[in-house]
Amino acid sequence: MFQLRKKFTANRLRGVLMFGTVLLISSSYSQNEGQLTVDQIMKAIIAPMTSTIWGAYDIQTDVQWKELENAAITVIAAGNLLDTNEGDAANADWQEYNQQMIAAARSALKAIGKQDEEALFNAGNDQLYPPCEGCHQKYMSQ
Ligand code: HEC
Repeated sequence: MFQLRKKFTANRLRGVLMFGTVLLISSSYSQNEGQLTVDQIMKAIIAPMTSTIWGAYDIQTDVQWKELENAAITVIAAGNLLDTNEGDAANADWQEYNQQMIAAARSALKAIGKQDEEALFNAGNDQLYPPCEGCHQKYMSQ
């Protein structure tokens, strides 16, 4: 009985220690290695997703619309990542460009919901493109 209890306590203690370690590791992970760089977010998420949106033409099937919907949603997700990224994200202009990009993706999403190709084209050209240019001019090192 005593033996069993001792073992139980030891296991429990080990469990608590492990849990603590996992917490420690995961919190430092999310602050360092887990955080994507702006370069990664741009090249792996924003560039391919916006090229899907800008490349949309003569959309026929629901599958194509769904792909566009996913692309617009993913741009919004990338915007959320840029919002919390360390460094320039604290800057007011950065926030502004980022919010413009997110708003543009939301307009695109609306157009996609209505399967309105012209509205999608307009959102892409008039709204989605300018914040890329603006933010790059200000924050991309030459
Ligand atoms: C809030 C600021 C911001 C917005 C908005 C933004 N970018 Fe960027 N982008 C950057 C920064 C900063 C870099 C440079 C990152 C680095 O090199 O570390 C970059 C780099 C890139 C790159 C890599 C370019 C290269 O030559 O290395 C691509 C591609 C890119 N952005 C595409 C886009 C597109 C497309 C949009 C608009 C839909 C966009 N970005 C919107 C800040 C932004």
